[in-house]
Amino acid sequence: MKKINRVFVTGCGGMVGSSLYPCFKEKGYEIKVTDKDVNESWLDFLDVRDFEEVRRQIFEFKPDAIIHLAALTSLEYAEKNLEDSWNTNYLATKNIAEISKELDVPMVYISTAGIFDGSQNEYDESSLPNPINVYGKTKLYGDLAVRHILKKYFIIRPGWMFGGGKKDKKFVSYMMKQIKEGKKELNVVNDKFGTPTYTYDLVRNIEALLGTDNFGTYDTVCLGKTNRIEIANAILEILKRDDIRINQVNSNFFKKDFFVPRAESECLKTAKLDLIHLNLMRPWRDALKHYIETDWK
Ligand SMILES: NC(=O)c1ccc[n+]([C@@H]2O[C@H](COP(=O)([O-])OP(=O)(O)OC[C@H]3O[C@@H](n4cnc5c(N)ncnc54)[C@H](OP(=O)(O)O)[C@@H]3O)[C@@H](O)[C@H]2O)c1
Repeated sequence: MKKINRVFVTGCGGMVGSSLYPCFKEKGYEIKVTDKDVNESWLDFLDVRDFEEVRRQIFEFKPDAIIHLAALTSLEYAEKNLEDSWNTNYLATKNIAEISKELDVPMVYISTAGIFDGSQNEYDESSLPNPINVYGKTKLYGDLAVRHILKKYFIIRPGWMFGGGKKDKKFVSYMMKQIKEGKKELNVVNDKFGTPTYTYDLVRNIEALLGTDNFGTYDTVCLGKTNRIEIANAILEILKRDDIRINQVNSNFFKKDFFVPRAESECLKTAKLDLIHLNLMRPWRDALKHYIETDWK
């Protein structure tokens, strides 16, 4: 199989991108990183909804692989902006899959645990998707388009993401910001279950897979199922903050801001990574400690 040297990346200005860029640079790849929000000096502008421009830039760069990170990731935005969400998360993905096919290069697509309805305790690559919100539906269509169009693909399904420091817009960052603001009580939901996923580990696993021809779909999450309460407690333990109290609430408590239905369980297991002995994901507590003590700063 052809060695991968040149990698084209979309949506690299977000949480995953901010771990991916230094990792791929350090490993010596020629990398072109793009986003519609040029928030770093190393990013070039590319809006994946501009299909012709995407084609032009990718053909000009002549990559050996394409990593497609760009997506609208806010569940609330997706629910209120249907056309933008379908264009970005589905049609742009289909366009990039078609370009990958023409160039005969592998494509990496980041799917999500949000394609499942949460009625099972745990999901793996053989589970049947049934998304319950617009974000999940648009991401599932992207996932199906990649599988339908390509043979050489890696579909990566992460869980509850953390990582990226200032780019982090998810639960861990939400907790850390409240602690930094001096809050002495944190309201945390107790009715949702998932598998945390550290962007730092995730991109190393993507890089390891890219060097193989083990094409297919991979649930790529840190080891261990958990809930938001355990994660909040782990954060306080790592920070040695026994002066902060956690109030357990259910999801209704936050329904004004987070009005989109979320699955009760988004737990994934890394069945296929384990099968091919290429699982680089750490236990979530170790990864969280690494994040808070190094990356977060
Ligand atoms: N974050 C999670 O919890 C999570 C979980 C599972 C899977 N994923 C998937 O992982 C991938 C990477 O997401 P992430 O976690 O890094 O989220 P992120 O921080 O929101 O990054 C996504 C990036 O894509 C950009 N983008 C949005 N629309 C674009 C467009 N039309 N053209 C070019 N760039 C565009 C975003 O810019 P703006 O910020 O300006 O919109 C953002 O910089 C996505 O495919 C996402 O669906 C994420």
